[in-house]
Amino acid sequence: MKTVIFYYTGTGNSLWSARLLAQGLADVRLRPMKQADALATGDAEAVGFVFPVHVWGIPVPVVQFIEKLSLRPRVYLFALAVNAGQVSRTLIQLRGMMAGRGLKLAAGYSIVLPSNYIPWGGPGPAERQKKMFDGARSKIAEAADCIGGRRSAPIEKGPLWQMIVFTVIYKMTFKQVHKMDKDFWSDDKCNACGVCVQICLAKNIELQEGKPVWRHHCEQCLACIQWCPQESIQFGKKTPAYQRYHHPQVSLQDMLPHVVEH
Ligand SMILES: Cc1cc2nc3c(=O)[nH]c(=O)nc-3n(C[C@H](O)[C@H](O)[C@H](O)COP(=O)(O)O)c2cc1C
Repeated sequence: MKTVIFYYTGTGNSLWSARLLAQGLADVRLRPMKQADALATGDAEAVGFVFPVHVWGIPVPVVQFIEKLSLRPRVYLFALAVNAGQVSRTLIQLRGMMAGRGLKLAAGYSIVLPSNYIPWGGPGPAERQKKMFDGARSKIAEAADCIGGRRSAPIEKGPLWQMIVFTVIYKMTFKQVHKMDKDFWSDDKCNACGVCVQICLAKNIELQEGKPVWRHHCEQCLACIQWCPQESIQFGKKTPAYQRYHHPQVSLQDMLPHVVEH
């Protein structure tokens, strides 16, 4: 295997991006970071990471995965940071993590797709979403060309003000993320189907007396609220009014990394 792409995804945007990138490359394997034996496959000739931006940086579980992954000394490294328009310092952070291990992040692309951060609202109008999908398709084709040719490209980043302000917030929240599930609740549409239990990337949800309970080791991927078939899961007070989102070309079955091998 020449190339392995590790992905992490809550609502499928990163999985869709990783698949599209893989289509543009030869001899490539997609591995969910959450699959039990994923760490065993880090010794490919080229290694890529595709993940969402969370709180203007790399999500906690992605940091933890990459820290544990062993990589060859001169491996070709690349990444797609999938976000809703504010990539900030995410890819610079990844470049720094790699530099700390004596490795080089050769290419880091920001891919903008509809937002899954439902506490701040829905994914936006369909027309705007379509523009984002089209824009992402051309950007990923550009990335595949660069990565396939094993070339270097500038690491993408947000404006300076964004990197200064939001890096502070990222650092402040990093150790608190697991507790942020205290605002989840389920309304009376819940029929105890158990999809939230299955889809939770952190195995953080259990059903007690037919209702989901969050056990405070949350990763804030928001898969539970976004994939609930009854739209019964809520976060805080405003989400009953907000539209749910997952990538239209990603199915619930695709999202079960511990069950499905891609
Ligand atoms: C907890 C959380 C924090 C987020 N923070 C950011 C952010 O700082 N900047 C941004 O542009 N998008 C942010 N988003 C939006 C996601 O990065 C974006 O919707 C992404 O496409 C989701 O990818 P996924 O479907 O693979 O999980 C955040 C989403 C979540 C759930």
